[in-house]
Amino acid sequence: MNWKFAWKAASRFIAGEKLEDAIRVVRDLNSKGINATLDHLGEHTHTPDESIRATEDIIKIFDEIEKHDVAANVSIKLTQIGLALGDEICEKNLVRILTKAQVTQNFVRIDMEDSSYVDRTLLMYEKMRQKYLFGNTGVVIQSYLYRSEKDILRLGSLQSRIRLCKGAYKEPPEIAYPQKKDVDIAYDRLGDLLIDASIKAGMPEISHNGKIPPIPAIASHDPNRLVQIKELADKRNYSRRAIEFQMLYGIRRDLQEQNVQEGYPVRIYVPYGTQWYPYYVRRLAERPANIWFFISNFFRK
Ligand code: FDA
Repeated sequence: MNWKFAWKAASRFIAGEKLEDAIRVVRDLNSKGINATLDHLGEHTHTPDESIRATEDIIKIFDEIEKHDVAANVSIKLTQIGLALGDEICEKNLVRILTKAQVTQNFVRIDMEDSSYVDRTLLMYEKMRQKYLFGNTGVVIQSYLYRSEKDILRLGSLQSRIRLCKGAYKEPPEIAYPQKKDVDIAYDRLGDLLIDASIKAGMPEISHNGKIPPIPAIASHDPNRLVQIKELADKRNYSRRAIEFQMLYGIRRDLQEQNVQEGYPVRIYVPYGTQWYPYYVRRLAERPANIWFFISNFFRK
């Protein structure tokens, strides 16, 4: 993280080290009709104090969103706010974050991490919905996991707002499809289930301020996945405002703009902060060409 050339390469995917850098990026996206979700980078805090500090940093984001009047919500990782330290501390921190989000009429997406956290992440999400009655939160489902269809059906009863992604972690074949084509087939099937769930729930649309997403959030840069879901939705006379497409900052800007022009809500995941290393490594692993980009920056340093 201290190598200047590494930051130069990574900064294609990261808005900057400070919240003000991220707000600047969001404002620019908003001017193009694109919403955002802000992610203060960080995962796996090691002490309760660290998890509380991470929680307080997240809480500040809502004030900044209000102050600058930008169309953004917030994405978090539960290990950032103490899940690895224990359920109790994570629950306390999450309640604080969701309370703040509620007061500022905003929304929190709980990212999904590696498979060892899936059960506890979903249980924590369900607890927030059922025990604390927070409506302003949603979760992420990964199509590479065999279990995901069951999870979507279970979460459907809560009218859950779900971000569907392929999955970014290295998982064993006992629990995840090893072949890309099977991950893609599962993606289309799960997308279809989300459309179903949304129709059953009355097809809620994205909120006017762009902060509260619809039920299905299709998070992918794969044009074939987008075509599939759009065709499916059109066949059912599904409202374009009741689905959103999500992409990562710095990837496929052409596709982002094309979807806005077609009348779909688009949300860009905008990460910022000093803890960018694990996030960046996942982006490198997804696409070998990124590694060449990294190496060419080394020679240009
Ligand atoms: P795929 O990997 O097939 O890529 C399709 C095309 O997209 C590529 O051909 C290329 O053009 C472009 N592309 C994809 N990745 C790229 C990269 N790194 N650099 C440059 N171009 C690239 N995962 C997870 O496990 N938990 C989570 O909570 C989230 N959250 C999340 C939010 C949002 C908004 C997005 C878009 C993605 C996630 N992910 C995630 C990551 C996701 O699981 C997945 O790893 C990546 O999105 C890559 O998969 P694609 O669907 O883009 O397809």
